[in-house]
Amino acid sequence: MKIYSLKSTLIIFFLFTVTFTSFAQNRTEQLLTDGWKFLKGKNEASFAKDFNDRAWKTVTVPHDWAIEGPFDKEIDKQMVAIVQNGESKPSEKTGRTGALPYIGEAWYRNTFSLPASAKNKQIILQFDGAMSEPKVYLNGVKVGEWNYGYNYFYIDITDHVLAGQKNVLAVHLSNQPKSSRWYPGAGLYRNVRLITKNKENIEQWGVSITTPEVNKDFAKVNIKTKLSAPGTKLITRILDGQGKLVATDTAKTYFGNEADQNIKLLNPNLWSPETPNLYTAISGLYDGNKLLDEVTTRFGVRSISYVAGTGFSLNGKVRKFKGVCLHHDLGPLGTAVNVAALRRQLMILKDMGCDAIRSSHNMPSLEQLELCDELGFMFLAETFDEWAKPKVENGYHRFFQQDAEKDIVNLVKATRNHPCIVMWSSGNEVPDQFGAEGVKRAKWLQEIFHREDPTRPVTVGMDQVKATMASGFGALLDIPGLNYRVHLYDEAYKAFPQGMLLGSETASTVSSRGIYKFPVVQAKNKTYPDFQSSSYDLECCDWSNVPDDDFVMQDDKPWVIGEFVWTGFDYLGEPTPYDESWPSRSSYFGMCDLAGIPKDRYYLYRSRWNTEKPTLHLLPHWNWEGREGQTTPVFIYTNYESAELFLNGKSLGVQKKNKATPQNRYRLMWMDVKYEPGTLKVVAYDQNGKAVAEETKTTAGKPYRIVLDPDRKQLTADGKDISFVTATVVDKDGNPCPTANNRLGFEVKGDGIFKAVCNGDATSLEMFDKPTMKLFSGKLVILVQSTHKQGSMVLKVKGKSLISGTVEISAQKQ
Ligand code: GAL
Repeated sequence: MKIYSLKSTLIIFFLFTVTFTSFAQNRTEQLLTDGWKFLKGKNEASFAKDFNDRAWKTVTVPHDWAIEGPFDKEIDKQMVAIVQNGESKPSEKTGRTGALPYIGEAWYRNTFSLPASAKNKQIILQFDGAMSEPKVYLNGVKVGEWNYGYNYFYIDITDHVLAGQKNVLAVHLSNQPKSSRWYPGAGLYRNVRLITKNKENIEQWGVSITTPEVNKDFAKVNIKTKLSAPGTKLITRILDGQGKLVATDTAKTYFGNEADQNIKLLNPNLWSPETPNLYTAISGLYDGNKLLDEVTTRFGVRSISYVAGTGFSLNGKVRKFKGVCLHHDLGPLGTAVNVAALRRQLMILKDMGCDAIRSSHNMPSLEQLELCDELGFMFLAETFDEWAKPKVENGYHRFFQQDAEKDIVNLVKATRNHPCIVMWSSGNEVPDQFGAEGVKRAKWLQEIFHREDPTRPVTVGMDQVKATMASGFGALLDIPGLNYRVHLYDEAYKAFPQGMLLGSETASTVSSRGIYKFPVVQAKNKTYPDFQSSSYDLECCDWSNVPDDDFVMQDDKPWVIGEFVWTGFDYLGEPTPYDESWPSRSSYFGMCDLAGIPKDRYYLYRSRWNTEKPTLHLLPHWNWEGREGQTTPVFIYTNYESAELFLNGKSLGVQKKNKATPQNRYRLMWMDVKYEPGTLKVVAYDQNGKAVAEETKTTAGKPYRIVLDPDRKQLTADGKDISFVTATVVDKDGNPCPTANNRLGFEVKGDGIFKAVCNGDATSLEMFDKPTMKLFSGKLVILVQSTHKQGSMVLKVKGKSLISGTVEISAQKQ
């Protein structure tokens, strides 16, 4: 994260037990990372107090207590009918929440010391999220609690903190069974921050920056700043992306305790996914010349508009969202937030041409928003998967009435300055879509958003389209969001008065990386004995559709403002269509698998979305021993209009995109290819029939050698940074072996550690933190992490009868 880089007034420490030596700074912010003690399973009142926790496990936060497993079919086994999936009879669901031990109670304890002068300070403790129902104790006294595990909240601990002494912080967490539809993770999975500042200060989340006027010559920047002390002076300086001072303003207008500044920025560098330009506002609070407090806020200059008939515009240019939905887990890391893992996901999505993310179905991490600002992704920030009516027995409905408002308020206050956020969502497929009460709830929630942030519209992901047309639910939303239901787009567009529709959730096509099934036919809810789904990308659920059906809507209906595909990456839990099959514990919906390796589908989207670089992707693999002479269709995902396929030098003809079916429009398909080993070659042609690109796939021989490909070879020596190393097994000639399933072992020497491994197989019960795993479709990804020591590490990957692979990765102090 980069937010706190400016000036020495804002400093982040990473210490075991945090001790302040001086209060020279007017404000400090520390991440409470190290030295946490953790115990799962027991709950005693003494745990909140000064208690000897030496025997407890030492962990660093962010921490997900359940990701080490083991996977177990019995965990959170649910006899339910998933009504949203159209089921009416209950059946046994095994991997629904990932089959990882997230249920139960746990305690986290830590200590920090403050100097005697702290008695004159305001002290705030912020949790960026805690799974779940955190109850926070300081020196034995309960100082705060929050029910929703996904939200950010802070507690003013000024009156409870012991200045000049050691403070004991204890957090109790509790996860109910049947509380989620996916793997929610467990524990202090996001950052915990300790903030000290003078009593005369800028309030926590007290700065709000908007850009009500944006054009190429100038922008009007409105900054509202909530101050704890009237009679002080607020000076705001604005720096551009290079750190150059571009504006200074002393606040003249105050409304109550809020300063209101309107600042003119000349020739602004606008923020967009293609040009993620950022500015920094430094708000300085003064008593005369004495600096009392200083807050640094990053923001972007950009305008958004949603207009009937025209759709969505960013900075005056109409565009459609090329978005993906993401759950919050990071595969083998579980839910413990990690910047390197989040950045890698976004880089993979960027190359696909994706420009937007929907945080389904809850508040995103602050780190993810920072990265989306920096790397250029628009963001649809969502709140809830449930309102007052349940989807799961112990879901958010337990808290809705009492908490929904404060949950929305915290989401908006904590994240509103991120230029990436262009829309809010107050819910996903809530059962409250039925009934008059639901309409009232939709209005209530939308009005809370409007009150807190008048600049962004609100949507709801609706699956009960007919009901929401009939009740007025859909009509009252700022933006009607449709989940799937492409067959209802026209009808909904006519019925709703907004003059536009968003594909808030689309596709839900299922596939397993590198697995292909025959015959190649479109199918719904298709299952196979090996619990895998076919990568010909023609299989989906009975409520969903294949990608091409969405493409038709996006391309042919100007009033469709874009789509958020379910999902960019596979996630833990929800193993549809194998909800009832064990072992199956993670999703099949991703364009990339759980290890982050692109599946074929990734290239189908890339061929549409990446308008900068060409795509020419050929499938399936060409190792079909035993299928000689049998029909083995070949698909090409490409932005080129036509291509010719050759098998062992013989032309199998030219295919050209056409509108006969949605598939013909977006894929090139040779349906009658008879398999013979050798080389498949595709040659792409431009409009003039000129050959412009080619791609080949060759039948591989026996697995021979391990090839390693790290996403980064230089890490930061901060004990958190991670390199993701893809291991591929190749034959003697270097051809990838697409069906290899060899067991590999991993060893890291030097200044780094083996962190985790993942092969993307939704049916694997091997644990992510053990230094061995079998390949899945010839590949897996190893995660190696830096320590706090500068230096280099060597990862060695071995496998029986294989030539080992090694790679060196260095780590530098920042
Ligand atoms: C949607 C739902 C998602 C996920 C998806 C699977 O209806 O909003 O959370 O369950 O289905 O297709």
